[in-house]
Amino acid sequence: MANALLELNDLEVSFTIGKRVVPALQQISFQVGAGETVGIVGESGCGKSLTSLSVMGLLPGTAAMTKGGIMLDGKRMEQASGDSWSAVRGKQAAMIFQNPMSALNPLMPVGKQIAEMAMAHLSVSKPEAKRLALEMMTKVGLSRVERLYDDYPHRLSGGMMQRIMIAMALICKPKLLIADEPTTALDVTIQAQILDLLAELNRSTGTAILFISHDLGVIREVCRRVIVMYAGYIVEDAPVEEILDHPKHPYTAGLLKSLPGADKRGSALYTIPGRVPAITDRKGGCPFAGRCPSASDVCERIAPELRQTLAGHGDHRVRCHLYADGGRAV
Ligand SMILES: Nc1ncnc2c1ncn2[C@@H]1O[C@H](COP(=O)(O)OP(=O)(O)OP(=O)(O)O)[C@@H](O)[C@H]1O
Ligand SMILES: [Mg+2]
Repeated sequence: MANALLELNDLEVSFTIGKRVVPALQQISFQVGAGETVGIVGESGCGKSLTSLSVMGLLPGTAAMTKGGIMLDGKRMEQASGDSWSAVRGKQAAMIFQNPMSALNPLMPVGKQIAEMAMAHLSVSKPEAKRLALEMMTKVGLSRVERLYDDYPHRLSGGMMQRIMIAMALICKPKLLIADEPTTALDVTIQAQILDLLAELNRSTGTAILFISHDLGVIREVCRRVIVMYAGYIVEDAPVEEILDHPKHPYTAGLLKSLPGADKRGSALYTIPGRVPAITDRKGGCPFAGRCPSASDVCERIAPELRQTLAGHGDHRVRCHLYADGGRAV
């Protein structure tokens, strides 16, 4: 992709645990183009949040990028200083966090929190920042915004708080919006409204979206392309229809099988047996081998590479020995 807005290139992120340096993300390479909507899906502990925190320069203190790099809007970020990250955050990339209550300041009115974001990054006056905040609050579907502006976070419902978070993320018109499980804590009606809102924002403003969820059904509503992560690796990457109609990796097939659907009503929901290994328990070979219904001897011994598959329609990458003959390593 020429001039990708975001490019992760063979990124590795590791934690220091006691005297060990343990990788949590490995060989993460993908791009997001301007205006593109890309989803990242995977079970809990697969590395979705670490990937997004890396892009925002917000990794926890015990973690570090140990290999590879990140290009954001033409700038190399892996060696960036705290100041360079602050300049990027808000304007180039903004993030909606998994839990809005913990991301908002409980002691500051919500409108003011949005206005402060504008003042910090857009060098506008206080009255202008307030005007922009009120405008953005209306845009994200909040009503009676003049009154709401002075309310504190605890007075708001989960859906309203999530909209405040979205308004805060969008106030500086970032080129890339990262939404980390933005609807997980919400009931289904509010969830549908937030998904519509994000899709509409992408259409009307051209903001690229990196949308993170453990639920492929939710990602399908917003994204054109999906990256499937497992145990710190990308295991599949393809256009959303490709993933839904022709999943290649047995893990993706398992995720799809576990989606609730009208045809499955009344029957018990499928779950993939076993669980994602902790970062300290990962062995050689394919990380999914222990849970995979198609695993053979080679899977236990040799880690597969991420390859472009020739069998798929369009751009489709998969990390699985089942497709080793049909593709080239990428
Ligand atoms: N501060 C930390 N110290 C040690 N290990 C960590 C830390 N934060 C995350 N990890 C490990 O890194 C791996 C990836 O974590 P991450 O938070 O990215 O998962 P996730 O895919 O976002 O999961 P979830 O769906 O639960 O949000 C997990 O195995 C997790 O245990
Ligand atoms: Mg997470």
